[in-house]
Amino acid sequence: MPPSVADINRTIRGAALKAAQETDDAPEPAFSGDFSFPTEITIGPGLDGAIACSTKIGYVNGAKGWLVYRGINCFELAEHSTFEETAYLLLFGKLPTQAELTHFSSRLIQYRKIDPLALEVLKVIPVKTAHPMASLCVAISALGTNDRNAEETTVEAETEIAIRLIAQVATLTAAIARLRQGHDPVPQDSTLSHAANFLYMMTGHKPTPLEEKTMDVALILHADHGMNASTFTAMVTNSSLTDMYSTIAAGMTSLKGPLHGGANEKALRQIEEIGSVDEVERWFERMRAKKAKIMGFGHRVYKAYDPRARIFKPLADLLTREHKEVRPFFEIAQKLEEVLVERLGEEKKIFPNVDFYSGVIYKAMGIETPLFTPIFAVSRVAGWSARVLEYLADNRIFRPRAVYTGPTRVAYTPVSQR
Ligand code: CMC
Repeated sequence: MPPSVADINRTIRGAALKAAQETDDAPEPAFSGDFSFPTEITIGPGLDGAIACSTKIGYVNGAKGWLVYRGINCFELAEHSTFEETAYLLLFGKLPTQAELTHFSSRLIQYRKIDPLALEVLKVIPVKTAHPMASLCVAISALGTNDRNAEETTVEAETEIAIRLIAQVATLTAAIARLRQGHDPVPQDSTLSHAANFLYMMTGHKPTPLEEKTMDVALILHADHGMNASTFTAMVTNSSLTDMYSTIAAGMTSLKGPLHGGANEKALRQIEEIGSVDEVERWFERMRAKKAKIMGFGHRVYKAYDPRARIFKPLADLLTREHKEVRPFFEIAQKLEEVLVERLGEEKKIFPNVDFYSGVIYKAMGIETPLFTPIFAVSRVAGWSARVLEYLADNRIFRPRAVYTGPTRVAYTPVSQR
């Protein structure tokens, strides 16, 4: 029997229980509670440990493996919420009432229709061969060229654009998926939820409740994650009071990289390259000898098991159990985790991150690998927007310093004497 939505919820509860047994309720004093500038902190390379701002949106407790949005833990949201509700929670600071949720969902639906200009642009770029994240950035920028309100930088105006973009990133990702396959985009279906409609616009088939729930869980778990590179990029960009389209496009360009959101695609390619469970140890040794990073492992903040991977691993197990073609990918992934954690878990606190098992899940859903990072963007646009809007209310341009380590009194040499 194929798994059911109830099985997914049971899986999430199991993951939550395991997490609860390995952690406690105390937040880290250095990164939670009352805060005001100036502050004294120790900063490492890559702004390790730096504090950019205070926030009420979300909290990652890396020492204990928690992720909370507005105080609610990600396991609760993954089991009970939907992407629309979670996006509302991030943007507006509380769970919506039924009336608020209906209104918010109807605004997302109203903004879902594919924008004709963005579609034109997608048809003139090499969409079949370009990376879909690159196409998505172009399409989002194109939307901005056609919005007369784009330059308005009040919180109200930018909130409206954020809602449009939350709808459009899904629509444009789906359109890119279609165009890559040589098909026309599928018009939206206003009776479907955000997750179901996204899958429908991508495939042309109405998703099953299981597929809809799986996508909802994926979108909920990717929606926000502290001061990660793309969120910080979006915030730095918006702090110059540029427009929201540029801000979201900037977030996407950062997410695309393999050390960040691009890792989900690379992680699956790695599993394909390994090819069989028997090859895992040999492959791992070769990577270690080359000092190569294993994609989908490690994290700047988590030094405990990533709670999102805690859900995605058993979910990938559940969804591939009766899936003959994809099951070997899960088995290789599981073995790789076992080998890597045995070698590096204790010493370097390296565990799977969100990007390790998500690709196996998307593959089991029949989604092509280059679309994995765009799916991350479909979700993270909510977190980028919420963080940018929160900061905009009391904006101060981001402007750190670099310590100059070069000489300061070098005489100019004319070109003829060099
Ligand atoms: N494989 C092997 N060794 C690793 C890995 C890895 N994936 N990640 C970290 N290490 C080692 C690293 O070599 C270093 O060892 P040493 O102390 O001997 O030099 C130590 O762990 C600390 O690593 P780091 O590179 O200083 O850590 P960082 O905080 O600068 O980088 C990271 C974090 C996520 C970029 C890194 O772990 C990495 O490159 N992982 C692979 C890419 C990946 O999966 N990215 C997705 C991140 S989670 C989702 C997201 O935010 O997008």
